[in-house]
Amino acid sequence: MSRFVLGVTGASGSIYATRTAMYLQRFHHEVTLIVTHPGKQVLEYEDQSALFDYCKDVCSVDDFFAECASGSSDIAGMAVVPCSMGTLGRIAAGTSDNLLVRAADVCLKERRPLVIVPREMPYNLIHIENMKRVTLAGAVVIPASPQFYSKPQSIEELVDTVVAKILKHLGVEQSLVASVAKVWNGDEREIPAPRNKSGASSSGNDKSTKAGTTTNDQ
Ligand SMILES: Cc1cc2nc3c(=O)[nH]c(=O)nc-3n(C[C@H](O)[C@H](O)[C@H](O)COP(=O)(O)O)c2cc1C
Repeated sequence: MSRFVLGVTGASGSIYATRTAMYLQRFHHEVTLIVTHPGKQVLEYEDQSALFDYCKDVCSVDDFFAECASGSSDIAGMAVVPCSMGTLGRIAAGTSDNLLVRAADVCLKERRPLVIVPREMPYNLIHIENMKRVTLAGAVVIPASPQFYSKPQSIEELVDTVVAKILKHLGVEQSLVASVAKVWNGDEREIPAPRNKSGASSSGNDKSTKAGTTTNDQ
């Protein structure tokens, strides 16, 4: 069992936070939740109040006495899901002016996993520069860009393709990662062979190729 901080901002996509917390709890980890003031409004607007059910503690974003504000805490890592461009900029600038940004700063200085899941489109140069800056400082930027090759059948399954990546980079290995990754692990699922210009299968016949033979990743 490990303790993780989950930071939630006022970016759209709070379902990513709910599903991340749900899986962390399911795999017996503890979640300390920090939600910014705009984050609370967007959470409510997107009907994601279930998020709170999966969290052990909820810290006020204004409470710098919270344990996760200190490098001496036993926090295993943090994810900022979804991350607004405002919070991304504050983390990149090291402002530590609210608990969420301070907790992220602590993870970077203590060399603990920090996963940032930005949600915006399109990006301007400031966003891109800030993503570069946090990456150079040790964070992993995982855009909220779900994949479709695992053929998700619901919004939840689509969301989970991103959540699996978040958990993986937090160091949480579990069955969700395995199930989303199975396309690449040579299981029984089949991926159509790439087509050549004439529209025929490039493998010379129309049969599908076994999953796992491709070198693509997301
Ligand atoms: C419904 C709604 C959706 C929003 N979606 C985004 C978003 O996807 N990305 C973003 O950077 N800001 C988004 N915003 C704007 C942020 O909430 C705003 O910039 C806020 O200051 C972010 O503050 P925070 O980083 O402290 O949470 C959204 C605002 C609303 C009301």
